[in-house]
Amino acid sequence: MFKGVDMSKEMKNVLLATGLACLSGMLCMMSLPLRATDLPAAVVDADYYDAGTPNPEKVELGRALFFDKILSGNKNISCASCHHPLTYTTDRLSLGAGEGGQFHGAFRTTGLGDSAIRGRIGRNAPALFNLGAKEFVRLNLGGINEQTAAGLRLLSGRFTPSGLDNVLAGQALFPLIIGAEMLGQAGENDVVDAVSSSTQSGQRGASSFPAKWEVLVQRLRDVPEYVSYFQSAFPDVDSAQKMGISHVVNAIAAFQAAEFRSDNSPFDHYLRGDTDALSGAQLRGMDLFYNKANCASCHSGKFQTDQNFHAIAMPQFGPGAQTLGALEQDDTGRQGVTQNTADYYKFRTPSLRNVALTGPYGHTGAYATLEGVIRHHLDPAQAFASWDRSQVRMPSRSDLDAIDFKVVDDPNRSQPIVLANELAPMDLTDEEMGDLVSFLHALTDPDMLDLRRTIPTAVPSGLPVGD
Ligand code: HEC
Ligand code: HEC
Repeated sequence: MFKGVDMSKEMKNVLLATGLACLSGMLCMMSLPLRATDLPAAVVDADYYDAGTPNPEKVELGRALFFDKILSGNKNISCASCHHPLTYTTDRLSLGAGEGGQFHGAFRTTGLGDSAIRGRIGRNAPALFNLGAKEFVRLNLGGINEQTAAGLRLLSGRFTPSGLDNVLAGQALFPLIIGAEMLGQAGENDVVDAVSSSTQSGQRGASSFPAKWEVLVQRLRDVPEYVSYFQSAFPDVDSAQKMGISHVVNAIAAFQAAEFRSDNSPFDHYLRGDTDALSGAQLRGMDLFYNKANCASCHSGKFQTDQNFHAIAMPQFGPGAQTLGALEQDDTGRQGVTQNTADYYKFRTPSLRNVALTGPYGHTGAYATLEGVIRHHLDPAQAFASWDRSQVRMPSRSDLDAIDFKVVDDPNRSQPIVLANELAPMDLTDEEMGDLVSFLHALTDPDMLDLRRTIPTAVPSGLPVGD
């Protein structure tokens, strides 16, 4: 009767299903390959800000702002340029071409003439799924923007505006005033050249941030459609003058939280009790992930991240993070934020929701495939040494190409990255690797496969909505 059936697979299905039954309170005396306690609890509305339903007017305003190039100094780039819904809230590049680049994704160029990019962006543009979940308390790959018990701690320090809804709103303040991302270069536009009238302290330090934000808000006040949008989204805005940068970023955060919430994957269905939601290979992969392969020691919790920082020796290339005290082309990760030597080369454990859609992988986008980045974890030192740079995706330009690989090509510079690695070598058979990849595909939410519904047909400034 069972001839031709893979018994071990069938048995495991049954055992995993029983595991869930135990969770839901039934008496269970079997010993299980995967204890229910190993799995995270299912995602619920209460995990998100505003119980997962932000004010719809705020979301609509945020949608316009996320796509409107009016918020960039030279009116040539928006949040969507690097986090486009058509490429699953990322840009499909290892390292992006920011302000001055043209077109999107695989077609993006470094731009033309005087307005061409000055350098690459130092890190891979991360996906934006589920960032409206309250557990994402540290944003950016080194966690520079944090929600702490004492309040928000942001890159702007004491120049942080008041009235921010959450750290996701706080994060949105910074692409606007970073030269390579949206601001542009000194002398190019009114935003970058704005300085605080009280300090006149040049264009670099945080003291000039409020002046720059104010020029951007004034651009929005000058567009009547925006004024009415702000008035309907915010009760405290009864005139254009009351519009402030906090309203701008609160709306952008509400848009991201609402549209990129993603908890409808087969794995979510499984956790909610649908034991048929996962295939045999996905169940075996889940077992590996939460047990033998130990992935969940870092990729833990509801979104497969411990919200913490670990060193796993990802290949470092491109211009680097340019943080305080860092050498050119270097990126010391969390250490650049804390200045603590124990944090060298640690990056935030990425959430693995929709990860099958969001390559290339790692903080520089060093790996083109899921299997490649998982194999890296099995022996980071060896993987670093034999890393194949031909998989890197970014537009070529000779002066940029010339500095791209200085760290990986110099043993003295790459050795500290490899030595900081925390992962012990591990063996997986090819079959186990296949099962793990299958499990990661079970984290793909079908609602996120076509995000065209999130893209506005036009924005109030009248600037083109495209790349
Ligand atoms: C030029 C490309 C570019 C543009 C434009 C851009 N971003 Fe990003 N974004 C990035 C990169 C790269 C990072 C990672 C930065 C880091 O870790 O230091 C990032 C990080 C983020 C994060 C943190 C994600 C996380 O998991 O911690 C959020 C949220 C985000 N961006 C939203 C936005 C919004 C909103 C805008 C527009 C106001 C925007 N971005 C504009 C490239 C871009
Ligand atoms: C020691 C903690 C740790 C363990 C254990 C771990 N990871 Fe990771 N993982 C990370 C960190 C940190 C990164 C990002 C590193 C970087 O960007 O430099 C990462 C990146 C990834 C990525 C790329 C995601 C992206 O969006 O770029 C995947 C996929 C992944 N891990 C899967 C796994 C799997 C599968 C396992 C188990 C075999 C595993 N990880 C075990 C810490 C860990």
